[in-house]
Amino acid sequence: MCGIVAYLGKKEAYPILIKGLHRLEYRGYDSAGICLSNNANLVVYKNRGKVSDLEDLVKDVNLSGHIGIAHTRWATHGAPNQCNAHPHYSENEDLAIIHNGIIENYSSIKQELAKEGRTFHSDTDTEVLIQLIDYIRIKNEIPLSEAVHLALSQVVGAYAIAIISRNDPDTIIAARKGSPLVIGIGDGEFFLASDATPIVEHTRKVIYLEDGDIAEMRLLKDGKSNLEITNLENVVKTPPIQQLEMNLSMLEKGGFEHFMLKEIYEQSRTVRDCLRGRVNAEQNNVALSGIIDHKDKFLNARRIIITACGTSWHAALVGEYILEELLHVPVEVEYSSEFRYRDTVVFPDDVVIAISQSGETADTLAAIEKAKENGAFVYGICNVVGSSIPRATHSGTYTHVGPEIGVASTKAFTAQVCVLALIALCLAREKKTISEERYIQLIGALCDMPLKIEETLKLDEKIHDFSKIFTYSRNFLYLGRGYNYPLALEGALKLKEISYIHAEGYPAAEMKHGPIALIDAEMPVLVIATNRGSYDKIVSNIQEVKARKGRIISVVTEGDEAVRGLSDFCISIPETEEMFVPILASIPLQLLAYHIAVLKGCNVDQPRNLAKSVTVE
Ligand code: G6P
Repeated sequence: MCGIVAYLGKKEAYPILIKGLHRLEYRGYDSAGICLSNNANLVVYKNRGKVSDLEDLVKDVNLSGHIGIAHTRWATHGAPNQCNAHPHYSENEDLAIIHNGIIENYSSIKQELAKEGRTFHSDTDTEVLIQLIDYIRIKNEIPLSEAVHLALSQVVGAYAIAIISRNDPDTIIAARKGSPLVIGIGDGEFFLASDATPIVEHTRKVIYLEDGDIAEMRLLKDGKSNLEITNLENVVKTPPIQQLEMNLSMLEKGGFEHFMLKEIYEQSRTVRDCLRGRVNAEQNNVALSGIIDHKDKFLNARRIIITACGTSWHAALVGEYILEELLHVPVEVEYSSEFRYRDTVVFPDDVVIAISQSGETADTLAAIEKAKENGAFVYGICNVVGSSIPRATHSGTYTHVGPEIGVASTKAFTAQVCVLALIALCLAREKKTISEERYIQLIGALCDMPLKIEETLKLDEKIHDFSKIFTYSRNFLYLGRGYNYPLALEGALKLKEISYIHAEGYPAAEMKHGPIALIDAEMPVLVIATNRGSYDKIVSNIQEVKARKGRIISVVTEGDEAVRGLSDFCISIPETEEMFVPILASIPLQLLAYHIAVLKGCNVDQPRNLAKSVTVE
């Protein structure tokens, strides 16, 4: 949450910063702001709303400067208004800061500083931090970098910050703890950002800062530049320079109206990419190096716990069903936010799988730390290469779907389920809990998935057509059984997050224990009815809805006639193994949510109040 970007070099900073903000806008869009260092002055412009509102604000201003910092905000402390927007100045406008994270002890620091005569202009924790740094700097007559070290050792909480100074206009100081920061190293110039997306078009050489790192980027008189990274104890560090593998085209809409639609359509490719090099259809083999290297941990596990948030948590639920079916090992799925705080019992012989698209979700990171403290082996399933979770886990697998920019997760979900299936297949063969015949069948079904996704995407027009009927529905119910129950949850989440229609997902049989009371002619009920095992039961559930005049939208397997006959609208998807239906059937649910949201005029890629990367708890 909150995106930060900074530039220091020979070029004009504003175009670089504003483009960077657009790339990071998925992290929050309550307000945006920029500070440029110009003729020994720090000039700040900030505005409530989106990055485009900031651009409107400055459109007639001559913005020049070769050093600058910029921020797009997801509000935590203080209302999302102009005054609370970043950057924030210190008392005499000597320093300016941008910040992603939360300073938890800001209130007590603020009181102390107020006693010393400091005044505050915003309600933010960020302004308190820059005032503290400035206070320490002046009181002790020390350089800014020393003051940053001292101040950061006093604060509790999470931060990724960038600071510029009017007295030292050739320097940017950045630091991170709990929130991500990447430095891009150009030719005599530096870029800094919350993730690599604003950097990739300028340089491919990056350093991912670690918790506790403080970086000082400086332009030297001879046209060269210098970067020094220290930890909080002032010990100099030399982290490796890494090579970015991202393409610029991955960050563009590629002709689609929205990133979300592009990402839905990418899924045939992203699933193929996720399986590539891991499934060998000719040799009927699944190989995941992270699993093979640590197979003893998994095979001797007392239990597998999967922890995640949001859509990743839904993928985890599908994973629970797959792992229990194929591996015969007990699996528990827990929200990371619950796992981290409650009195969780974790044994040293448990394996914990953490799933996260962004690799930065604060609760999931904290759950990982807790699992490690309890001695468990922790395995990550992440998408963003180089993010914090892959670095915090003992081993893991990347989903390799490329940047997911739409706030509502789509292609990450299908790839997460694929990875969980691969893990289960790999281990089930080792454990001999699967017959060779079944193993080969499932590999075949996985390998067919990209083509079947392409087939499923052809339903788009039909889904668009009947979305019009439901555009102004106020409620929606999603029902599924077995593997389709987590999918019902995911379908409901997609709809509510982007169209603001209240939607609930339920295991179909549980409908009788509450939601059935809501059903009337105004209530659309989406039923995923592909199960072979419990087909008759789900047909009965549909009858129960119809008896109360509910309108049925069904997702069925091609060739199904019985459920079609009971449905007001029916979507047929290609036949596949029951455990892989969530991969295929998620696509019509994503498209339905997308079209309803577009028809309602909602901002699909940036739904209100949400952010893609939740770096605060
Ligand atoms: C936010 C996003 C969701 C995502 C969730 C977990 O709520 O809007 O799309 O599923 O965070 O994020 P993660 O990056 O850990 O998968």
